[in-house]
Amino acid sequence: MRNKVTMTVDGLEISVPAGTTVLDACLDNGIYIPNLCHLDGMEHPPASCRLCLVEVDGMRGPVTSCTLAAVDGMVVHTNTDEVRELQKLAFRMLVSCNQGNCRVCMANKRCDLQQIAKFLHLPLRTKQMRHIPKDVPEVLTDHPCIVYEPNKCVLCGRCVYVCERRGNPFSLSFANRGFNTIVTFFGSEAEGVEDACRDCRACVDICPVGALSFADERERHLRLVEAGKGRRKAG
Ligand code: SF4
Ligand code: SF4
Ligand code: FES
Repeated sequence: MRNKVTMTVDGLEISVPAGTTVLDACLDNGIYIPNLCHLDGMEHPPASCRLCLVEVDGMRGPVTSCTLAAVDGMVVHTNTDEVRELQKLAFRMLVSCNQGNCRVCMANKRCDLQQIAKFLHLPLRTKQMRHIPKDVPEVLTDHPCIVYEPNKCVLCGRCVYVCERRGNPFSLSFANRGFNTIVTFFGSEAEGVEDACRDCRACVDICPVGALSFADERERHLRLVEAGKGRRKAG
């Protein structure tokens, strides 16, 4: 049985272990494809962000590379005009509820949205793009030590996935529907949750946009931002 497949991506021949997704094959070989809802090793990627589209010779229309297994002889195109237009459309949808206030955000300079915006040559906010906030509080503080900011959340599901894999008696999950979908913590009032989550940090660390943070770390960060602003004014 062959354990390697060889494929061509944007004219470049690459070999990857059989069973690798096209997205992982590209990322592992230095070919960047925007992605948000995929994590290495996910058995069933939700394919919800629609950013990782590629075209494959012999397939009709663009397909999500995170759900597509690399096959020997496959010819993939990651940068056609159609792919880029669809990625830009998906990106604009994702940021339509985003506050775009990067300066005060804890994820500033390490946020995946900033990276994708730069890659697609798109601004995070434009005057033409309407900001549509979700009909939910700006900050949710149901968890004893983690805060959630729904208007930053791109609903990628990474936090839900990593929390599920921790196998704790409480869990992260999605609530509400459609545009007002948010992440919620179930069972977070149980004893020991604060200590367990402080030890774990998985959801906070995996969130690509800083929508989840520890309340004390966030407060400290905001105080530092304010202090910096004060210093700039005084100078
Ligand atoms: S810190 Fe870990 S256990 Fe706690 S909610 Fe996040 S992923 Fe789940
Ligand atoms: S909170 Fe972060 S990790 Fe969780 S769904 Fe929202 S953006 Fe993704
Ligand atoms: S990474 Fe493939 S659809 Fe989100």
